Amino acid sequence: MGLRAWAPGRVNLIGDHTDYMGGLALPMAIGLGTEITGDRGGNWVMLGSDGFEGVAEIPIGGVEDPSAVEPPWARYVAAVVDEVKPTDGLVGMVHSTLPAGSGLASSAALEVAVATALGADRVNPAAAAQACQRAEERAVGVPCGIMDQLVSLAAIEGTALRIDCDTLELEHVPFPDDAEVVVIHSGQHRELSGSAYADRRAECEAAEQVIGRLRDASPADAEAIEDPVLRRRARHVTTENERVDALATALTSGQLGYAGDLLVASHASMRDDFEVSTPELDELVGTVRGVPGVYGARVTGAGFGGCVIVLCKPKTRINGPVVWRGLPAAGASLSTT
Ligand code: GLA
Repeated sequence: MGLRAWAPGRVNLIGDHTDYMGGLALPMAIGLGTEITGDRGGNWVMLGSDGFEGVAEIPIGGVEDPSAVEPPWARYVAAVVDEVKPTDGLVGMVHSTLPAGSGLASSAALEVAVATALGADRVNPAAAAQACQRAEERAVGVPCGIMDQLVSLAAIEGTALRIDCDTLELEHVPFPDDAEVVVIHSGQHRELSGSAYADRRAECEAAEQVIGRLRDASPADAEAIEDPVLRRRARHVTTENERVDALATALTSGQLGYAGDLLVASHASMRDDFEVSTPELDELVGTVRGVPGVYGARVTGAGFGGCVIVLCKPKTRINGPVVWRGLPAAGASLSTT
């Protein structure tokens, strides 16, 4: 009997660069993702891919150093196998509709698809997400937070997922059906394994040395930091945490104009305080904001390129390379074929 495992990518509505500081995030799963079809059995996980060269061949006991595995995409597979420690192998194919390097969490979708295919416990999505988060760091050395893996596992159709990244408490926030999200690509490829992402995280940790946990700090606390760079980083995280709850409330109470304003304020904070936007992303956000039917827009995910999300009335005509549009999708699934 064959299996089909599916794991979606995500956009983050708001709450970026907060997850690894134990803050709040509000992502939603999208209808693009990664599928694995195959059969269980044997002592190896052997996966081909229709998007990447080469075959991932990993013994079910795992490998010592997943970051040394070839081809490079197989590093994610190796790290997840080592985390899940399956008792049976898997022979199959990976097929993805998610563009890689676009800020849509394609690596998390691959990790979650492999974990799901290998029978990871999805009843407890936080534990499975933590295993996939560790896998990401072991595979490529990115000290990421838990948002991408957790929303890919735990999302429910029609709702965004409010994640308290400290307690891992989840809340499914209904998304209004008189709005939709449009994802536009900036054309800039984005790579997190360079140093910029890790640098931002280190700056946030340095800010915590001055004012204590950013999770518990207020924007006023951030202003007390003398170093201007650390002050800006802390200002982003503390104001962004507040915007997460403001957006959740705006969405559930149908205040879409206000929701759009929050997206725009978040973009400005990513641009000016966290300094992870680019001129291309800024221009896209600026242009699309003027389109009738658009409530607001912002860069989504880590930044440094990738995609912009637009909150708008359904069927609003958006010019530019639309990657996906719609309402929040469901999380990972496993079925027999
Ligand atoms: C990447 C990471 C996430 C999160 C975002 C920024 O997507 O994988 O954990 O930190 O960047 O919000």
